[in-house]
Amino acid sequence: MRTSSPAPVTHPSEAAYDRRRLSQWLSGRARAEGVSRRTLLRLLGAAGVTGAVPFTGAGPAVAVTAPGIVKPLPDAWFTVRGTNAETRFASLAETGYHTPNERFFVRNHTATPVLDAADWTLTVWGDGLDHGSVEFTLDDLKRFPAVTRSAFVECAGNGRSLFTTQQGQSVSGTAWTLGAIGAARWRGVRLADVLRRAGLGRRAVDVMPRGLDAEYVTADGTNLGRVRRPLPLAKALDDVLLAYEMNGEPLPPDHGHPVRVLVPSWIGISSVKWVGDIQVSAQPLYSPWNTDFYRLFGDAHPAGGSAPLTRQTVKSAWELDWNAGLARDTTHRLTGRSWSGAAGVVRVEVSTDGGTHWQPARLHDASRRGGWVRWSADWRPRSPGAYTLAARATDATGRTQPDTTAHNTQGYLFDAVVRHPVTVT
Ligand code: MTE
Repeated sequence: MRTSSPAPVTHPSEAAYDRRRLSQWLSGRARAEGVSRRTLLRLLGAAGVTGAVPFTGAGPAVAVTAPGIVKPLPDAWFTVRGTNAETRFASLAETGYHTPNERFFVRNHTATPVLDAADWTLTVWGDGLDHGSVEFTLDDLKRFPAVTRSAFVECAGNGRSLFTTQQGQSVSGTAWTLGAIGAARWRGVRLADVLRRAGLGRRAVDVMPRGLDAEYVTADGTNLGRVRRPLPLAKALDDVLLAYEMNGEPLPPDHGHPVRVLVPSWIGISSVKWVGDIQVSAQPLYSPWNTDFYRLFGDAHPAGGSAPLTRQTVKSAWELDWNAGLARDTTHRLTGRSWSGAAGVVRVEVSTDGGTHWQPARLHDASRRGGWVRWSADWRPRSPGAYTLAARATDATGRTQPDTTAHNTQGYLFDAVVRHPVTVT
C-alpha cells in the first residue's frame, strides 16, 4: 500500500455532471468499455432521430441463474422475485428504525458469491491515479478512520409494479411493490480516504467500482460483464463509504461481504456489493448500468434517454398488507414510512378516502437526508366496505409526491401517491 498527499480536485455540482455526461454520451465522447458497439450505435442513433430507444426487453431484472440468495427467506418477511427477494413492507411494523439484516431486501443480478474476507483484496487502478495501481486488504481498510452512518439502500425500480397496477402502463423489470428498500447502520471507511491514499490525481473525473459476483448475462445471451457503474468523482469524495459492517455485524454474504460501496441517497445500483476493484479514470466512464439501464427512456424523457439516474425519489408506504382487513368501530393505529433521496422528509399527510380528505400524520423520527421517517395516524372506520388509504410525503426541498409518475419503459423512480386498498368488516 502506497501513500500520497491528497490531490486537489474540482467538485462540479451533480446537476452539471448529469448535463455534461448526457451530452458527452450523446455525442460519443466517452469511454464505454463493455457497452456493445450495437448498443452504442443504437443509442447514438436514437438520440438524433426518435423520442425513445427501442426497448429490448433484456432488463437487469431478468433472472439468468438460480435464485442464489444465501439467507433464509421466510414467507412472512419476503416475496421472492427471480434472483431477488422483496421485504414485505407490512413486516417492518415489527422492526425499529433500522431494517434487521435478516429482513433486508436482496437485489442480485446473478447469485451471492460467498467470499472469504481473509483472501479478499481491493485493487484501485486507472489513469486517474498518479502512481499506478494499489491493493488493499480488509486489515488495510480497517486502519483508516472508521465512519458509521445510517442510510437506506433502495432499488431504482422500487414501486415499479405500480406503473401497471395504478397507472395501467407497461414496464419491464422486476415487479417490485414498495419493499425494495431497507435502512441500516453502515460502518466502514470513506472512499475519499482510500482514493487519496491510492494517489488520486488531478485529472481523475470518474470512479467505477466493480463487483466480484458472476458476469451478468441477459436473457438474449449478451454478456455484460461484472456489475459496475461509474460515480462522478465529486460524489465519490463526498459521502460514499466502503462498508464492512451492517447493523453492527460483518456484512452478510447477500449484502456484499466482505466490503460493499454505500452511496447514500442514490439509486441502489450505485452501492456495488462484493467490490473487488475500483477504476479511477481521467475520462468519463460508461457501463451498461448507466447507459442501457438506470436511465429514463420513453415519450416523457429526452430523445435517447435521460442522464444516468443518481438520487432516489420521494415515496411513502403503509406497514399494512395489500387488502388488509380492519375491524369497524375500532381505533387502529396505522403506521408507515416515508423517504426521499433529495432531502429529509418534513411532512406526511394521510387519507382514508382515496385522497379526498387529508390529515397530517404524526412523525416519529427526525427529518434526515439519506434516512426515512416512521409515522402513524389513528383511524376509526364506522362502516364496513372497501377503502383506499393514501400517504403523501414532502421533503425539505419542497418536493411532494405527485398523483402520477411520468412513464418510463423500465419503470424507474415511481414516486406517485400509492392508493392502498383495505377492507373494513
Ligand atoms: N452489486 C453487485 N456486485 N451485484 C448486484 O447484483 N445489485 C445492485 C446493488 N449492488 C448488485 C450490486 C442493486 S440493483 C441494488 S438495488 C442493491 O445492490 C441492493 O442491495 P442489497 O441486495 O444489499 O439490498
